[in-house]
Amino acid sequence: MNSGARASEGATEALPGPDGELPGESAGLTPELRDRLLYYAWRAPSPHNAQGWCIKVDGLRFRVSRDPARQVLGEFDPGSREGDLACGAVVTNLCVGARAFGFDAEVRWRPVGGVAAEVTLLPAPAPPDEAATRRLRALRRRAMNRSPYRSEAVAGSVIDELQATAGRLGFTLSVLTDRAVIDQAAAIAARASAMKLMHGPTAAELYSLTRFTGRDAAQHRDGLDLELFFTPAVAARIAAVAMHPRVLAGLAPLGMARGMAEMIARDADQAPLRSAPALCLLHASSLEDETFLRAGACFEEIALDVTEAGLAMALHSAPIEVGLSHPGAPHPSVPGDWHASIAEVRRELLAAFGAAPQAVPIAFFRLGSPTREPERRSLRRRPDEPRPETAHYREMTRRNQPSLSRNEQGALRAVRILVAGCGSIGGATVVPLVRLGAERFVLCEPGDYELNNLNRQAADMGDIGRNKAEVQADRARAINPQAEMLVEPDGVTEDNVDWLVGTTDVVLDGVDVTEPAGITAKRALHDEAWRQRRLVISGLDLGGTQLVYAFDYRDGRTRPLNGRLDGVPPGTGALEFLSRLVDPLDVPRELLTYTEAMIRGEAGSAPQLAPTADQFGVLAAWMVLDFAAGRPVRRRVKVAIPDLVMPRGRRLANETARMAQLARVKFLLESTRRRARAQAQAGTETPRPSARDGS
Ligand SMILES: Cc1cc2nc3c(=O)[nH]c(=O)nc-3n(C[C@H](O)[C@H](O)[C@H](O)COP(=O)(O)O)c2cc1C
Repeated sequence: MNSGARASEGATEALPGPDGELPGESAGLTPELRDRLLYYAWRAPSPHNAQGWCIKVDGLRFRVSRDPARQVLGEFDPGSREGDLACGAVVTNLCVGARAFGFDAEVRWRPVGGVAAEVTLLPAPAPPDEAATRRLRALRRRAMNRSPYRSEAVAGSVIDELQATAGRLGFTLSVLTDRAVIDQAAAIAARASAMKLMHGPTAAELYSLTRFTGRDAAQHRDGLDLELFFTPAVAARIAAVAMHPRVLAGLAPLGMARGMAEMIARDADQAPLRSAPALCLLHASSLEDETFLRAGACFEEIALDVTEAGLAMALHSAPIEVGLSHPGAPHPSVPGDWHASIAEVRRELLAAFGAAPQAVPIAFFRLGSPTREPERRSLRRRPDEPRPETAHYREMTRRNQPSLSRNEQGALRAVRILVAGCGSIGGATVVPLVRLGAERFVLCEPGDYELNNLNRQAADMGDIGRNKAEVQADRARAINPQAEMLVEPDGVTEDNVDWLVGTTDVVLDGVDVTEPAGITAKRALHDEAWRQRRLVISGLDLGGTQLVYAFDYRDGRTRPLNGRLDGVPPGTGALEFLSRLVDPLDVPRELLTYTEAMIRGEAGSAPQLAPTADQFGVLAAWMVLDFAAGRPVRRRVKVAIPDLVMPRGRRLANETARMAQLARVKFLLESTRRRARAQAQAGTETPRPSARDGS
């Protein structure tokens, strides 16, 4: 696997460095690889997606502990066993990430009080193999799939493999495939689920962690996004009212709360469980201090096996959760007459799976082939918080006041910005943003500076031959030495796009579209930003016009690139891409002249100018400030610099000429397309016009 994380190039190949050292042996991890491993660790599953863990990194050592402020189900699970389970899954993810980047990982459970586990990375003796790379890919794809499952049976070989994984790690995985017993287990789960919903504190907690709209999910980046339950938007809004704790409290005296809870339990647990061809129970033979931690690590390995096997799974934890205080007494808030039912649920569940009565149930999930795939990813908060403000920062940004309030300044400082593409327009954003007070960046760019870039890009002769992102990172550090500047010199790729988007708050899209590879990267960037509900600010240099689009994927409605590329196969040329994205009326004269030449098959390159590129820096910086301050941003901003400075009389003449030229280009384009279609039908291929050069 290639990686933008600088040291990981060495780490991936595990070659001795110039001093004979193996990667990671001396200074530890590069900031980029550390960041990336943390991202993978945070992709672990957690109850209600509360992400109740802390991960502290010291060199090559990662310490994972429960975050006491983010534990859930305090009444049913007073010992936070599910919190341990989630921490165990984090440990597996750290190990999987580390192995894919050329490390071995050593795990110590509960090394000291208050720490769940310590993972130490050691340089591996051999480079990562294909299996390690595949495992990481599975980690990046793993997700609960809560759609109904198809009835077709799960292959026996897959079940054997999952059971072998459980056995190897000291647990047992019992699997039900008999329809009658599946129905029975589904009914047990529904009883437990209704019980949870009728327990006031648990229902209120669930409500507080349910994200009823896309914007809600994007804002919190934790909790349960109802879109991942395939809940239509209207139903989600109704649920927001019906499930409100005050509404439920109001229904209780009328005897309607039970009916409501049973209905939700049937829909959310019983029916989906009954649709599955296999139900699984992970259990342990005894309960020790480390049992749920180790079981979490085991559960995640099983989940990755399931993903690699191309199958889906979904947890239905209620029948385990209601009994998590076992062998202790339930919390006083749990009504006394429920105690027997809770014990019964536990007993019946173990019996249904043929497990011993004294076994410890850990995870209950269904397995099968889904009928639908979730379109979004479950969201994660940012792995680390911004550092405290320094005196340097305060003094450096002093003259921003009162245009920026102290609060706005603080909000901007906290925002982590992905600059995807650091050429003409992306490269123009870094310095203005750093001066405005942004302090956290991931700069991503595969290209080096060339002489023909100097007409417009933020570089000088001394930068030629250097990676553009590296140069911009140095520029930023020279202004603010505290700025956190991560550099990804691979550009946007299928391998890194989830990490790039997942760990940043806003994306500045300066990906060059003059080459097919750039278009592929841009589409991958927008698809991922859409999956992870981010705001993307995209710029286009059109001669003297800077056209900025804000694609606000936080709202849950905006399609990638406004849906203009939906259904368009990969490999689209620049002209096709731009003609779909850009309104023809926005195209200035100088670009129409270039387009016309291209259609006629003449040589040339798209004009790109310093004033236009710099405009993106100006506009994007302000838009990021508005984003940080929580203000909405305009979806389209056009700055036609020549028009702004032209006397009014000339502008009119220019506009008239532009309209005439636009009509001519449109006619030319249509006739070229018609000719190409006719020739294609006649069996001959015509080369497509394509834009040249760029960045
Ligand atoms: C201990 C534990 C219990 C869970 N129980 C349930 C559950 O009962 N129902 C459910 O839909 N998801 C359950 N989940 C899944 C989480 O909601 C899910 O991991 C989280 O939303 C993140 O989504 P992802 O796993 O798809 O990335 C559970 C996860 C854990 C770790």
